[in-house]
Parts: sequence; structure tokens; C-alpha cells
Amino acid sequence: MTTTTPGQRTEAKISVQDVRKTFDLKNEEFVALERVNLDISDNEFVTVVGPSGCGKSTLMNILAGLDETTAGHALVDGTEVSGPGPERGVIFQQYALFPWLTVRKNVEFGLKVAGYAKAERRERAEHFIKLVGLEQFADALPKMLSGGMKQRCAIARAYAVDPSILLMDEPFGALDALTRVRLQEQLLETWSREKRTVVFITHDVDEAVFLANRVVVMAARPGRIYDVIDIDLPYPRTEEVRLSPEFAELRNRIWTSVYHQTPGTAADASATARA
Ligand SMILES: Nc1ncnc2c1ncn2[C@@H]1O[C@H](COP(=O)(O)OP(=O)(O)OP(=O)(O)O)[C@@H](O)[C@H]1O
Ligand SMILES: [Mg+2]
Repeated sequence: MTTTTPGQRTEAKISVQDVRKTFDLKNEEFVALERVNLDISDNEFVTVVGPSGCGKSTLMNILAGLDETTAGHALVDGTEVSGPGPERGVIFQQYALFPWLTVRKNVEFGLKVAGYAKAERRERAEHFIKLVGLEQFADALPKMLSGGMKQRCAIARAYAVDPSILLMDEPFGALDALTRVRLQEQLLETWSREKRTVVFITHDVDEAVFLANRVVVMAARPGRIYDVIDIDLPYPRTEEVRLSPEFAELRNRIWTSVYHQTPGTAADASATARA
């Protein structure tokens, strides 16, 4: 049940205000998220890391409008999230392609839902299929694609509807190292060219640092924000940046924050982010 009091007015693109999420288990209430506060600015790239089960996907599902808060508020552009919307492109932890549709039709599907006319659908699908390097496979069915290609198709489908927000749940998790690095670079390139607000969940601390303006570290039992770290590294994030001592220092700090968490502490103050 969502609370009836409205969320606070905010300039933030995404505003998570005192969110609590519980699931009813047999005889008890399981607290998946507790007192989560986070403001994300327009065009910001935020990555979220944390141990398995700390509520990352739960938070993303709430932002995507696929699940409701038990208490507190999730706002996008100052309006309470009440369901999915075309301004939010979602890439799920598991590739969510329609197996009976070709790459092209999968990409066109979202455009159809968003109300694009047929000719424009085809043109946009073509453009984004090319962007992710799948033009040779436009007429292939998902079962003919590798994991990395399926994921690139899901990315093309999300990008094609031109959402101002991308919600990505471990999108590169199942990929080999080389494909992963290529897709990271491609994502940053697209993000810098056509600015978007990105919330990107990952298990990979290197990936979290490499991509983000800000890294949110979550903790489990209850799922909460544990730390928020600004990544003041320059873009474009080149190989040089990746190999710099500053990068190593941030990675080590975040690694410690994720894997050596002190039980029961929360970083509520620092989590209520800068506007
Ligand atoms: N529908 C549900 N019913 C009951 N419990 C749930 C439900 N969805 C999630 N949970 C529980 O909430 C907690 C957070 O789950 P969530 O999927 O958000 O974790 P996560 O941080 O995304 O983990 P991972 O890194 O493994 O993907 C887990 O303990 C999970 O078992
Ligand atoms: Mg998850």
C-alpha cells in the first residue's frame, strides 16, 4: 500500500524519499528496503552496488513502476511513480526479449507501444540496431544470438524509445570481459552524446567506478543505503583513467564498503544526496 501523503517537492530527476518496502512471508514481514533516501539529478549517472539480496532490484522495480513502496515516495520529474512510463527505459537483470520476435521486431515493439508510426519505427530500429552492432542479425531470433548479443538487443530496444531515464539492472552481468568493456564504453559514449539519467546496478565494483558520477553502496538486512561516493574522475573514462591511482583508490574504498560492511549502520545523512 502506498502512503497517502504526497512526496516532497523536488528539483531532482529521480527522488526516493524515506522508502520502505516489505514483503509478507509466511509468518513474518520481510524488510527489503528501509529508510532509503536518494536524489538523482538530471543527466546524472548513478551506479548501485551491494551484496546479493540487499534490495537493488527491488529499488529498481519501484522506480520502474513495476512494484509499489510500502511507505515513502518514489518521484520522477516531481511526480509520484504510479506505473511504467515511456520516459523510463528498463533493462532487466535477465534479458527480457520476446523469443518469437526477431531482433528488429523486438526493437520495434517498444516503439509500437510508444505510438511511433510504421516508417519511423523501422528507421529508428535500424539506427539503434546499428548502434549496438547487430545489423547482421536484425532478422535473427533471440535463440540464435549469444548472451552478449541478446543483451545488446535489449539495450537497443530500451534506447530506441528515447527515454530520458535508463534503469539498468546488472545489464552486463553475464557477458565476457571484452564485450563488457566494449558495452561500457559504448554506453558512456551514448550517455555523453545524448544525455540521459542513468541508474545502473552492478556487482562489479570496477564497473561501478568506471561508469558513474556517483556510486551508491547498499547493505542488506534490512536493505538500505550504506554509503554514497562521488566519483570525481574526468570523462571520457579512458584506459588511462581506469589505470590511474585515483581510480584504484576509489575502487578500494568502495570494495571495502561493500564487502566489509559494519552490521546495522546506515548512511542516511550522506544518502540524502546533493541536489
Ligand atoms: N516478491 C518477493 N517476495 C518476497 N521476497 C522478495 C520478493 N522480491 C524480493 N524479495 C526479497 O527481497 C530481498 C531483496 O531482493 P532483491 O532482488 O531486490 O535483491 P538484489 O539486491 O537485487 O540481489 P541480487 O544482487 O542477487 O540481484 C531478497 O532477500 C529477496 O529474497
Ligand atoms: Mg537483483
